[in-house]
Amino acid sequence: MGPRYCVLYLIGYIVTLSIFGTAVSAKTIFLEENAPTLEEINFMKKYGYLQEVPLSVSTTYTSQSVAGAVAKMQSFAGLPPTGYLDDETRKLFKRRRCGVKDIETKSSAHRRKRYILQQGWGRKAITYRVLNGTSTLSKSRVETLMRTGLEVWAPHAGLDFRRVERSKADIEVSFASKDHGDGFPFDGPGRVVAHAFPPPHGAMHFDDDEIWGDEPGEDDDDITDFFAVAVHEIGHALGLSHSNVKASVMYPYYQVPVEKLHEDDIMGMQALYLKEDVHSPAAAAEARTESAVLSRSSTAPRFTRPDSESAEDDENDVPDLCYTNYDTIQVLQGKIYVFEEEWVWVLSERKQIVEGYPKRFHEVFIGLPRHINVIRTIYEKRNGHIVVFSGRSYWEFSARFRLVKRGRITEYKIPQVPELTTVFVSNYNNKTYLIEYERYWRYDEATRTMDRGYPKEMSAWRNVPYPVDAAIIWKEDTYFFRGPRFWRFDNAQIRAHEYYPLPTAQIWFPCPSTPDMMQYTANDEP
Ligand SMILES: *[C@@H]1O[C@H](CO)[C@@H](O)[C@H](O)[C@H]1NC(C)=O
Ligand SMILES: *[C@@H]1O[C@H](CO)[C@@H](O)[C@H](O)[C@H]1NC(C)=O
Ligand SMILES: [Zn+2]
Ligand SMILES: [Zn+2]
Repeated sequence: MGPRYCVLYLIGYIVTLSIFGTAVSAKTIFLEENAPTLEEINFMKKYGYLQEVPLSVSTTYTSQSVAGAVAKMQSFAGLPPTGYLDDETRKLFKRRRCGVKDIETKSSAHRRKRYILQQGWGRKAITYRVLNGTSTLSKSRVETLMRTGLEVWAPHAGLDFRRVERSKADIEVSFASKDHGDGFPFDGPGRVVAHAFPPPHGAMHFDDDEIWGDEPGEDDDDITDFFAVAVHEIGHALGLSHSNVKASVMYPYYQVPVEKLHEDDIMGMQALYLKEDVHSPAAAAEARTESAVLSRSSTAPRFTRPDSESAEDDENDVPDLCYTNYDTIQVLQGKIYVFEEEWVWVLSERKQIVEGYPKRFHEVFIGLPRHINVIRTIYEKRNGHIVVFSGRSYWEFSARFRLVKRGRITEYKIPQVPELTTVFVSNYNNKTYLIEYERYWRYDEATRTMDRGYPKEMSAWRNVPYPVDAAIIWKEDTYFFRGPRFWRFDNAQIRAHEYYPLPTAQIWFPCPSTPDMMQYTANDEP
């Protein structure tokens, strides 16, 4: 990208601001003083926060899209998503980190739990080979550290790693600098220190312009710990993407020491490698033990069994309402419906589960096709009908929960989005809000038209991290839910009330207090 483009960008930026000058919020005016440098723009593009656009004269980023990208980057790094380039945020551009993208534009659409999956190797026996070492670490030392690093992951996926000397291996480890032939040149000392490719490629590259060390001490700032970086890159070579959980190994920024995997890393591995053999009783038992171990800590979402069919008639397989991420929550006919896996709970008031629940939602929504094994988006229309969304279709039910019709989401006058995450009708303006991951539309059911100016970015709902799992109106207030937390929204101020988030389980459901729940009173992950 040449300097010419830089000039065009800056002009575009200023023009955009002055044209929409009167309409922009305080946030964007901040940004005018804090416009990102070309280098910072490139960073946000490289890691997937800012959309790549083809180079042309008319190409500019609006201040709004830049603020959105900054907010996304902040929230991924665990900073408050203000959209504003403060000093703390600017440090991110300079930190040592992995060169792999944070946001995969395609796969992020299918991302649900916090870890992100690509694909695994589809087998348990995996070979690795160390091609060379670096000036400060011999090849044989690298081999030893690699073996230890692989052993960190192996037990969680039942993997068996074997080192090979000469033949081509699944995972090939090498040190290289600058342009090294794969289209992802390294950048000299600092910043990007390594990258790795997911299966079936599997290569792991370490930047030879770093000074690589073996357990460097606290003050050895210039030395990069090979083991810490290797454990992270192995995660990629086995199929994991970056996680926004700061304590996880798959967090993209360099952190030392790496001593063990976080639950988030472990669940990603299990989902990638324990899926195929869940039919073997041994594996199922193993998965259940893991589940028991994990559910003891409320910081971890409950381990989701990949195969729920085999769980038929087993009472113990109902997820624990107190230890889970909910697929969605909605208010239907004045009651709170909570969906997780194939189950639904109904609460008449906060903390009062209606007798007979949980039930399988197929017993409640008669006529919903069997292949729909999860409900993530549901809402009650103003005419009392209930609509379930799945993929690009919807199923509409009468107020007595009988299937009325099936339709396509394009009937809501929105484009073919991959999936809606949340739909709700606001009591503030009686409009239907259709939320995708990072954008939302406002639809008028009375006139069957989309309101002008949509989609808008989710960052407009200030202090509510997104994507959200659910949004509901309860006793005239609007609530957003995400993972284990919820926020009450102030429609007048257009931001979450200041005392939020709070833990969902303890406040909405009959769940005992835990010491860990206090960490859900801040917006930071996990
Ligand atoms: C290590 O091997 C890779 C791949 O063959 C090569 O590109 C790189 O230059 C080698 N690095 C060193 C330091 O010899
Ligand atoms: C929304 O609909 C309700 C019920 O029909 C009505 O009472 C209320 O005035 C409407 N609110 C707005 C803002 O249109
Ligand atoms: Zn990485
Ligand atoms: Zn490379």
